[in-house]
Formats: sequence, C-alpha cells, structure tokens
Amino acid sequence: MKQIVSLFVLLFVASFHMATFAQADSKTNRNMKTDKKVLVTFFSHTGENYAVGNITKGNTHIVAEMIAEATGGNLFEIVPEQTYPKTYNACVDVAKKEKEAGARPAVKGDVKTEDYDVIFVGYPNWWGDMPMAVYTFLEKHNWQGKTVIPFCTHEGSGLSGTERNISATCKGATVGKGLALKGSIAQNSRNEAQKSVSAWLEKLEY
Ligand SMILES: Cc1cc2nc3c(=O)[nH]c(=O)nc-3n(C[C@H](O)[C@H](O)[C@H](O)COP(=O)(O)O)c2cc1C
Repeated sequence: MKQIVSLFVLLFVASFHMATFAQADSKTNRNMKTDKKVLVTFFSHTGENYAVGNITKGNTHIVAEMIAEATGGNLFEIVPEQTYPKTYNACVDVAKKEKEAGARPAVKGDVKTEDYDVIFVGYPNWWGDMPMAVYTFLEKHNWQGKTVIPFCTHEGSGLSGTERNISATCKGATVGKGLALKGSIAQNSRNEAQKSVSAWLEKLEY
C-alpha cells in the first residue's frame, strides 16, 4: 500500500513538473507540447526611448525572454555591428534614413535557423516597419518549410504591415499570427505583458 501511495505521489509530482516547468526537453531542446525545436530571435534597442526613458534592457528583449521561457526555445539577439545612437531623436533620424535607403546594416554573428522548426522573430516597430537590421538577418537564411512567428513592441502602430513583409522575405515559410505589445507595458507592467504573451502562445498552441 505504502509503495502504491509513493508511486502516486511520484507520478503527480512528475506530471506537475512537466506541465508547469519543463516546456522543453533538455536533451533534444524540443518544445514538449509540439515536439518542435523553437528559436526566439529578436532585435531590441537600449538607451533613451519613447515612453520609457533610459532603459538598459530593451522592451522587445523582455518579451523575447518571456517567449523563450514559456516555449523552452533558444534565444538569439540580432545585434547590428554599428550601434544606433543612444539618444531617441538621433536614433529616430538614423532609422528613418536607413528605411528610406532600404539599407541592410551588417549584423554580428549568426544562428543556424535551419536547425529549428519554429522561429519567433521579434523587433520594435520603427517607422511602421522592422529595423533594417532584421531584414539583413532574415535575408541570410533559407525559410523553406519553417514556421515563423512575429512579435513586435510599439507605442501605437502595432505590427503595421510587418507580418506581410516577413511573409515576403521568408519565402516558403508559414507565418503565424503575430503579437503586438506596447513597449511601455513590457518595460513597466511585466505581469500584464506576461498575461498577453501567455494568452497569445496558448492560442498558437505553444
Ligand atoms: C527609431 C524608432 C522609431 C520608432 N517608430 C515607431 C513607430 O513608427 N510606431 C510606433 O508605434 N512606435 C515607434 N517607436 C517606438 C518603439 O517601437 C517602442 O518604443 C518599442 O517598444 C521599442 O522596443 P525596444 O526597446 O525593444 O527597442 C519607435 C522607436 C524608435 C527608437
């Protein structure tokens, strides 16, 4: 009898852990709900920013960590070789010029997206688009057969047309329903941001 009770306790504890904490199998690195390999890539800017003051961790970075934590995915930050100005107005000017020129600023390092099944792509809304460095990163890879899921932080413009732009850039990928979250909420109201992220992932079944 004692052994049966112990077995039940063990099974209960194991299932609780699986449901609550172990979203990724640590050996295969696969999401335990979907059995898919998940990568969470993001671009995020620190320094002075709209509605949040001077920040040391970018708004999109915060959301990316929430997604990685919930899905068991690996994180990869898209870092431009040339850093953007830390003052807001100067950054806005550089970003505007890059967008108008269709620039493709060089980015540091890389990750083999081809090794993953599902790739979340996160970015701040810059001038109704993704920062040009995100295009540099996306255009380096082969997206055939992959699932790409956008998420963006913004201060009013939402995703703008970026889901469409990602579809056009990541040829052959299925592009999932994106998340748009206000950057000031990600930065200053973490519980609220976490709720939005969890509800969105739930709908996507991750
Ligand atoms: C260069 C630049 C351009 C921006 N353009 C927009 C915009 O067009 N629409 C909008 O809603 N927010 C815009 N924002 C605000 C950012 O999208 C928002 O603050 C975002 O959360 C920043 O994320 P990050 O901290 O991860 O870089 C802009 C911010 C910057 C720095």
